[in-house]
Amino acid sequence: MANSFYITTPIYYVNDAPHIGHAYTTCAADLLARWHRMRGEDVWFLTGTDEHGTKVERAAVANNVAPQAWCDNLVSNSWLPVLQTINAANDDFIRTTDERHKLGVQAFWQRLKDNGFVSQGKYEGPYCVGCEEFKLPGDLIAGTGEFEGKECCPVHSKPVEILQENNYFFELSKFQNDLIAHYQQHPERIQPESAYNEVMSFLKQGLQDISMSRSSVAWGIQVPWDADQVIYVWFDALLNYATAINYAGFADGTDRTQFERHWPAVHLVGKDILRFHAVYWPAMLLAAGLPLPQTVFAHGWLLVGGEKMSKSKLTGIAPAQIVDHFGSDAFRYYFMRAINFGQDGSFSWEDISARYTAELANGLGNLASRLTAMLEKYCETKVPQPADYQPADQLIIDLVAKNASSADAAIDSFEIAAAITLTKEIIDAVNMYVTEQAPWVLAKDLANTARLHTVLYVIAEALRAIAVLHHPVMPIATSALWEMLGADALGELAAQSISTAGSWGQLPIGAVTVKKESLFPRLAEEV
Ligand code: MSP
Repeated sequence: MANSFYITTPIYYVNDAPHIGHAYTTCAADLLARWHRMRGEDVWFLTGTDEHGTKVERAAVANNVAPQAWCDNLVSNSWLPVLQTINAANDDFIRTTDERHKLGVQAFWQRLKDNGFVSQGKYEGPYCVGCEEFKLPGDLIAGTGEFEGKECCPVHSKPVEILQENNYFFELSKFQNDLIAHYQQHPERIQPESAYNEVMSFLKQGLQDISMSRSSVAWGIQVPWDADQVIYVWFDALLNYATAINYAGFADGTDRTQFERHWPAVHLVGKDILRFHAVYWPAMLLAAGLPLPQTVFAHGWLLVGGEKMSKSKLTGIAPAQIVDHFGSDAFRYYFMRAINFGQDGSFSWEDISARYTAELANGLGNLASRLTAMLEKYCETKVPQPADYQPADQLIIDLVAKNASSADAAIDSFEIAAAITLTKEIIDAVNMYVTEQAPWVLAKDLANTARLHTVLYVIAEALRAIAVLHHPVMPIATSALWEMLGADALGELAAQSISTAGSWGQLPIGAVTVKKESLFPRLAEEV
């Protein structure tokens, strides 16, 4: 559908509990989903869990639990709650153990077989269980320390296992030319540019057919035409994006509405799984005769000591550790503003504390409290009527218009940090304006009442635009701000049009404002 925005996160392995690396992708997807909803688009935001395969099966066995019970427990007690922790408003949550998923996966692979893209063969080669991926010899690095002399996976720094089995192959090689042609024609389908270049050079090296099933694994979805094999976990997992919108109903023609309404998707992924999303998945879609994803955006890693934060290296920080101290709004703001989306970044307690104090408590929070305190003191807690604007006012009015429209454009190119910074520039400019205009001085002389009202209106109306622009980033604080401004008469904050946030003069004159506790309370203790 023309107005559709279908955004997905990767589905996360449930071999362990989530860390901030996982929350990072979900936050970005949630921010984009909220932004596009505020444009009035038909948004569908999907996230979920990847539950089959060797990695999850081994985690369950190591804990003496059956795989299904292991997954149920982690999903209920860790993966679903983390969505609340970071205040993500997903529309759906798919688990690869859902019946709808199993049905869709089997229907899909049956179609690929019927279309002539599945053959039988023998596979022998290195496999990384951490990545759940067959590796090419050129992918591996030499092990060090306890793994000296062994070939290791560059992501997990652990030895690969040599697998040898008879299984089914997906004829990936048949799609090399079509994919190259597609991406040459639509470079915007893989972002950022570095990701595009990486995929193109991989494609140009040539594609080999790839094993799509496993005979040695039990925990998975059965190959529909062979009860002795299960579908390779990645070729089960990638299909979640289709099965969640009822691919099964689409394939057998019983109900095509959901799939037709949402597909194609925008996939946000970590850069480690780019190849799966920009090569294998599109090839599968071509083989099934389906449209290719709208965009695959590969973001960077949260690093610890220069390496990817990971469960297997025990460097993960639980999102709640940060949220309990700073709140979910600050968590979202920090990760989305401090790291350019697409690049690697590091988390530090010092950095988040410093930004919380400078940008949220002293920046936005203070501005909102100062305004409502002055409206209470000078305007009977009402939004006043502005008189003629002076050049200093016009500068704010122009900045709001310009930055709001630039922020909206930045979101189209996934420049999330830039969008946030553009709103922050408005906050900084208005704080400066307050200092320069000194309404408390104007208030001393009744002759200045018209000017005082104009200045206070400019501040309030700029804050109205700020509340709208920051709502996808910080839903809770901006809702409180909306109430403080008495803006409810404009309707709910989430229902505002973000694309026209910069049009001046929306806040109703006479709206009753509310004085509240600080939007971002000062931090009680040092972390
Ligand atoms: N299950 C597969 C994905 C299947 S999608 C069809 C998988 N799962 S995962 O649990 O390893 O998580 C993958 C995603 O979590 C990454 O692609 C990334 O989005 C996010 N991150 C995990 N660790 C991360 C960092 N250290 N930094 C940033 N994002 C990270 O791969």
